[in-house]
Parts: sequence; structure tokens; C-alpha cells
Amino acid sequence: MDIFREIKTLKAFLRKKKLAQIPIGFVPTMGALHAGHLSLLAASQKQGLFTVCSIFVNPAQFNNASDLLNYPRTENRDVELLEKIGCDVLFIPSAEEIYQQKPGLNFSFPGLDNVMEGAFRPGHFSGVALVVAKLFHIVEPDHAFFGQKDWQQFTIIRQLVDDLNFNLTLHAVPTMREENGLAMSSRNERLSPENKIKALVFFQTLKLAEAELLNGKTMVEILPKLKTFAENDQDIKIEYLTLANRYTLESVNTIKEKNHLVLCIAGFVGEVRLIDNILI
Ligand code: PAF
Repeated sequence: MDIFREIKTLKAFLRKKKLAQIPIGFVPTMGALHAGHLSLLAASQKQGLFTVCSIFVNPAQFNNASDLLNYPRTENRDVELLEKIGCDVLFIPSAEEIYQQKPGLNFSFPGLDNVMEGAFRPGHFSGVALVVAKLFHIVEPDHAFFGQKDWQQFTIIRQLVDDLNFNLTLHAVPTMREENGLAMSSRNERLSPENKIKALVFFQTLKLAEAELLNGKTMVEILPKLKTFAENDQDIKIEYLTLANRYTLESVNTIKEKNHLVLCIAGFVGEVRLIDNILI
């Protein structure tokens, strides 16, 4: 695996691949890699793409300084994992390399970035869009792979790609779960073994909500009961549980038709904030 820390050298290297018409698959990450990330890389490799992974903990998308400080960083282990699975290129820039000057650009995605995560993390999606746009310009991939776990992020990146005419195909890869159902996340690294078990309640709440909704109940009817179920332990605090149109993210109250909805949850297990969702 070739490892680059500078934009210039990475671009020069990838230009040769472009000239040779070798299609590039790109998996942007913030490191602390787990099986979920590896499934994104596998999806790229399965398509026979020359696969580039980036690891960059993007300060612009953290609206909370202690969250940025505590975000898990496991560079040596990440490099080993990527070598092992045969990733072709790793781009691992410093913050100074990506933000050579203070960015002036702000993104807003009306309707998409002021709900769910956007309502609790002001500026988060502007920071995500900024770094993803920068990385797309640097890598110029033909395909880019994102996790379904960050469904709202995926929806916003789809809008970004449309709005800015990025010439690439986006892929949302299904969420990888632990055997017990807990969605894999870099943030799980920060959970104690005890809280890792408690965190299961997020997926259980989603499944319970889905069953009730499929039985004809409305979100308004079931929300109080589900909140009580999820917050049964004092370490769990739910921020939102929302049923939404999976393309427009407009919230809806009932399931009238399947295959176009997403049920999203976010909250805290102790100090650690987690999100999860299921497509309905
Ligand atoms: O999903 C993530 O890990 C990040 O938000 C991303 C897309 C790599 C941008 O920093």
C-alpha cells in the first residue's frame, strides 16, 4: 500500500492511474477503522476498483471541542488493517495540509441539514460537505463509498455531488453490526464493556418502533413508550427517534408504503454519542 501525507504527491501518483484509465474507488474515513469501514473497502475492491482510503479526523465537522479531542485515533492499527486487506493507497493528511488557510465556504442544505443530526450538531454537515468536496477534488474518484449508518450524511453528500456536478457514482453500503445487533462505529471504542452492552438498546428501540409502525401505529402514539423503554437505564439519553422519507428527510408519522422510509435514532450512552438507523 502506498501512503501519502501530501496532496501534491498523492495527486501526481493518481494522475498516472487516471491516464492509464484505471477506475478509482474512494473510501473517506476518520480512522479508528472497524469491520464497517472494511466492508466499504471490500465493496470498492469487489468492483475491481483501484482503492484509495483516506483517514482524516476533520476538525470542521466537530461542533464540540471535547468530542474532537476524544475521537479515537488508532493510526498504526489502521495502517496494519489496510495493508492486510490489500488497500492500494492510504491518504493521511494533517489538518494543516487540508486547511492550508481558514476556510471561508459554508454549505447549507435546506431541509436536509436542519433536522435530526443537524438540529443537535449545528455546522456539522457544512464541515462534512467541505471536507468531502475537498477530498473529491484531491482524489477525483470514479466511485465513492459511504456507510448507511450515517444515512443523513449520505443524503447530504448525494445533494453535494448533484449540486457541484462531481463526476462520480456514490454507493451506500449497509451497516455492519456486532452479533448482538449493535451498529459498528469508531465511537464504540470509547464505550466500557458494560456500556457497550447498554448501547444495544438503540437497535432494539429501532426494531421495536418498526414492529409497532408496521402494525399501523403512529410515531406520535409510540414515542413516549419507546423513550421510556430506551431510557430505562440512567446512562442512556435519547436525543431523537425520527421516521423520515429516506430521500427528502421530511419526517412522517406512519408507514403508508414501504421502501422509501428511514427510521433514525441518536443519543448518549454515558458520555458517548451514538447514532443508528434502519431502512423501512
Ligand atoms: O463518515 C465519516 O467518517 C466522515 O464524516 C467523513 C465522510 C469521512 C468526512 O469527514
